[in-house]
Amino acid sequence: MMTTGADTIRIDGEEIPFTPGQTIMDAALAAGIYIPHLCHYPGLPPSGNCRLCVVEAGNRSVAACITAAAAGQEIRNDTPALNAARTAITQMLFVEGNHICPSCEKTGNCKLQAMAYHLGMLDDHFAQFYPHRELDASHPGILLDRSRCILCDLCVRASRDIDKKNVFAIAGRGTDAHLVVNTPSGKLADSTLAVTDLAATICPVGAILIKEKGFEVPIGQRIYDRQTIRETGLQEHVERKNGD
Ligand code: SF4
Ligand code: FES
Repeated sequence: MMTTGADTIRIDGEEIPFTPGQTIMDAALAAGIYIPHLCHYPGLPPSGNCRLCVVEAGNRSVAACITAAAAGQEIRNDTPALNAARTAITQMLFVEGNHICPSCEKTGNCKLQAMAYHLGMLDDHFAQFYPHRELDASHPGILLDRSRCILCDLCVRASRDIDKKNVFAIAGRGTDAHLVVNTPSGKLADSTLAVTDLAATICPVGAILIKEKGFEVPIGQRIYDRQTIRETGLQEHVERKNGD
């Protein structure tokens, strides 16, 4: 990577450029360096809630998606300790929801599942919660299963900032946090959500599903059969930058 020497940071020893206003995540992805992430999506404002992207900047731990790149930063990203912490977060996300991969329509196209593969996660480690959260099948084209929601906030931001509809919100805090639909009934059927909205397709897990599409893509041709989440993360950045 060619650098100017002025506005540069180093990630795991590699010097990369950044432009003022870029986050560590933006600079890394632009330079082809993958920092694991689930709630970051190029072109949407960051929310910093999944914590998968935490890196060490000097002697501080910071979320790369919400931390501005600053000249001379020394970042550690791909280290055994950070990846162990990411694995623990991923294990917690698995047990907090009903992520029964073999029977889930999202299997093979799920970022949580792909992240587990990326990190070499071999088991859930923690005890399963088996939550019972409201399932909303009221919309003719879209299913919402809150028991699989990881509260990444992506559908909220996509609906508000790209689709300009503000269909979703996250209500409550901590263990009470849950996804709500912004209609008087609270049902998707009464919202303006359309199958073509980014909010209907951006869900990284199987919480928002397009109906009548389940298991449509054969095993071997699903997103993460073809490429890793690292490759997808870098590709998404390039596609959004090019407006694809
Ligand atoms: Fe994220 Fe999906 Fe939950 Fe929306 S429904 S907050 S996109 S996991
Ligand atoms: Fe940074 Fe989720 S990607 S906190």
